[in-house]
Amino acid sequence: MAPLLAHDDLGRGAPWVLLHGFPLSRRMWAPQHALAEHARLVIPDLPGFGASDGAPASMDAMADAVLALADHLRLGTFGLLGLSMGGYVALALHRRAPERVAALVLADTQAGADTAEARAKREALARRVEDEGVEVLVEGFVPNLLSPARREGRVAEDVRAIVRANRPGPLAAALRAMGAREDQQPWLPRIGCPVLGIAGSEDGIIPVAKHEAIVAAVPRGRLVVLRGAGHLSNLEVPEGFNGAVRGFMAEAETQRGFHPARGGPARAP
Ligand code: MLT
Repeated sequence: MAPLLAHDDLGRGAPWVLLHGFPLSRRMWAPQHALAEHARLVIPDLPGFGASDGAPASMDAMADAVLALADHLRLGTFGLLGLSMGGYVALALHRRAPERVAALVLADTQAGADTAEARAKREALARRVEDEGVEVLVEGFVPNLLSPARREGRVAEDVRAIVRANRPGPLAAALRAMGAREDQQPWLPRIGCPVLGIAGSEDGIIPVAKHEAIVAAVPRGRLVVLRGAGHLSNLEVPEGFNGAVRGFMAEAETQRGFHPARGGPARAP
């Protein structure tokens, strides 16, 4: 059996699982710990990232690892919040187990697959990460994750530290897995739960239009655009991000079958 994902388990109430982006770890969700006043937050390191063993072999394999953690914690039905690569995994998880997902937040992400050109660029970057180490991403990739106004300073330093704590092998594997990910667009009309899209107006990796396309394709979607935020909108504009998620959490709790899991560990943050 695959090893259990390293994770934080904070707060009490209806369970929400938070999935981080690339090339980060669960540490990127530090500003969202405040949401544990309203809900139980389960925040894993995806396979191969942070303190988790295993390999990010595919979006489906990562989704299965998250489902195994949810089973272990006896979460039952839960809310799912994925940012960027975490959004790719969230969509894969919903496709594999739609009955487990009561509500979905898709932040700074997209539903389509990579073009051949994008896949080739990922492969070239994966080889450089294998040959030269994670510093390649710290220098070449991190600036794109942030809006121009925040490419220096505390947020940028925090992001660099999170990236440096990851290992080159899994990062290269994740790049290849993202390049090979499936087109999830045909699945969108079948997502019956409420969906909140969150986009940063300054996202240089995934434009707002891709978020508009997601919320238009799902039956119950709406979008919040965070002004001035880049790709890592949760870190750049945490108050706006948390406010949007908090409101959505309150609405989502009225969903049938979405209630605090019984029996699982829930401790105060
Ligand atoms: C991420 O933030 O997870 C990545 O930038 C996603 C991607 O490269 O497609």
